[in-house]
Amino acid sequence: MTSSGSTSVEIDPNKPSISRVYDALLGGKDNYPVDEKVCEHLRATMPNIDDLAKLNREILGRGVRYLAGEAGLKQYLDLGAGLPTMENTHQVAQSLQPGAHVVYVDNDPLVLAHGRALLKQNDHTVVVSADLRHPDKVLAHPDVRRTIDFEQPVAVMLVGMLHHLHDDEDPAGVVDGYMNAVPSGSHLFITHFCDSGEEARRTEKSFMEFLGTGRFRTDDEILDLIRGYDLVEPGLVYLPQWRPTRIVRDKLTVIERLMVGAIARKP
Ligand SMILES: C[S@@+](CC[C@H](N)C(=O)[O-])C[C@H]1O[C@@H](n2cnc3c(N)ncnc32)[C@H](O)[C@@H]1O
Repeated sequence: MTSSGSTSVEIDPNKPSISRVYDALLGGKDNYPVDEKVCEHLRATMPNIDDLAKLNREILGRGVRYLAGEAGLKQYLDLGAGLPTMENTHQVAQSLQPGAHVVYVDNDPLVLAHGRALLKQNDHTVVVSADLRHPDKVLAHPDVRRTIDFEQPVAVMLVGMLHHLHDDEDPAGVVDGYMNAVPSGSHLFITHFCDSGEEARRTEKSFMEFLGTGRFRTDDEILDLIRGYDLVEPGLVYLPQWRPTRIVRDKLTVIERLMVGAIARKP
């Protein structure tokens, strides 16, 4: 494995980071007291918020299993990859497609450091430290070009990521920037905070206040980000409803209705 690139974000133990707060919600140890403090604020608004991180991580596994299995994809561009945890993209993909090529992109320096350690033995996987809001720069990165063949279908993953882009950061343009670079048969995999009601709006306020990011968009706003691509069944749905591997209650809990996910195919 290789890793390279400069990062625009320095490790600051006094300032919460998205990846470390997410790690804390998942019960990981790669976070600082300042991140745990944000979690406490979020829990004060939404007591089971940790479960939302777990639901997101679960659909990531199911989605990659679909992409590597049924869709047969052998290349993965995982944008906003996060700190390594259980069932990382390369592990799931390579269990079904041995030798699958995986590029992790994140702008948090801790992700680069931990990814480097995890991937020492993996020749087909790289971690690139870059700001994903600039698709042209990411796509031109030598490690990306060396690892991904842009003549062959690619799984473009923006899982738990697009809601961290503010409206004025043009999330639709970011999606298109990557999808325009990949051929027909490529897939887009997203999960996104959604505005499912009053509780979602209160949670959004809390994210904005304590982390500075976390847009809860409506279904229509989210569908607008992935317009032009063919939704794979069951479409854009709440996380537990996307190709579940266990029984899903008819009436979902508030937490289960805070995020949606979808996979779509480029025609
Ligand atoms: C909530 S985590 C999601 C991690 C993983 N995709 C998952 O769903 O389990 C979002 C990740 O996006 C990264 N991120 C946020 N803004 C970014 C940017 N502009 N460029 C690159 N990475 C970014 C954060 O550092 C964090 O690791």
